[in-house]
Amino acid sequence: MKGLFISFEGIDGCGKSTQINLLAKYFAGQKRPFVKTEEPGGTAGSNEIRKMLLKENNFQWSVETETLLFMAARNDHVEKVIKPAIKENKIVICDRFMDSTLVYQGMRSDKAKILSLSLFKLIGTYPDITFLIDMDPEIALNRALSRKTDEDRFENYGINFQYKLRKKFLDIAKKNNKRIKIIDGNQRPETITSQIIENINGLVQ
Ligand code: TYD
Repeated sequence: MKGLFISFEGIDGCGKSTQINLLAKYFAGQKRPFVKTEEPGGTAGSNEIRKMLLKENNFQWSVETETLLFMAARNDHVEKVIKPAIKENKIVICDRFMDSTLVYQGMRSDKAKILSLSLFKLIGTYPDITFLIDMDPEIALNRALSRKTDEDRFENYGINFQYKLRKKFLDIAKKNNKRIKIIDGNQRPETITSQIIENINGLVQ
């Protein structure tokens, strides 16, 4: 059995968390060792950066600085959690990874996009497969905001921003159609999970 790196992407409130939990349950049932993790986060240091990035704040960082902070969190996460797990032949299920940076930051500045692409290369760890849970932004945003956390900085940008995010995710998925599988998030959760498992089956050894 070999390690496998799976990432989940999508706009805020698209149902990623539900799918990640269902997939984790499936691997547990199969007695397949896995690690469930998230970005920004996954390590103590990255969680500190997460708090700075996602809570409403007065730092007024430029989108480029914000990109560097997301990438710093990612580097720590890759070094301490993702790489070691893959080396131990575990499956890594990661809630968001590089495509979120390309979408949320890259969409707002070419320099942020170039910064993130260069740093991805240096970090050198890419998902084997990515599931983009595609969803109507109106439904997704209502769902995301109804959770009422104190980490709503990006959700608070409003519905137009969510439409732009969706479009950007779909563009990136079309350009990377070998790695990124677009899944219709408007279906029943169990239907979505079986589509995800179908895609993974060929890859899990
Ligand atoms: P989270 O509460 O995990 O949201 P969700 O449940 O929607 O995944 O917060 C992650 C937020 O951070 C989300 O709004 C997307 C944003 N984000 C970026 O802007 N850039 C990144 O590189 C990553 C990983 C996340």
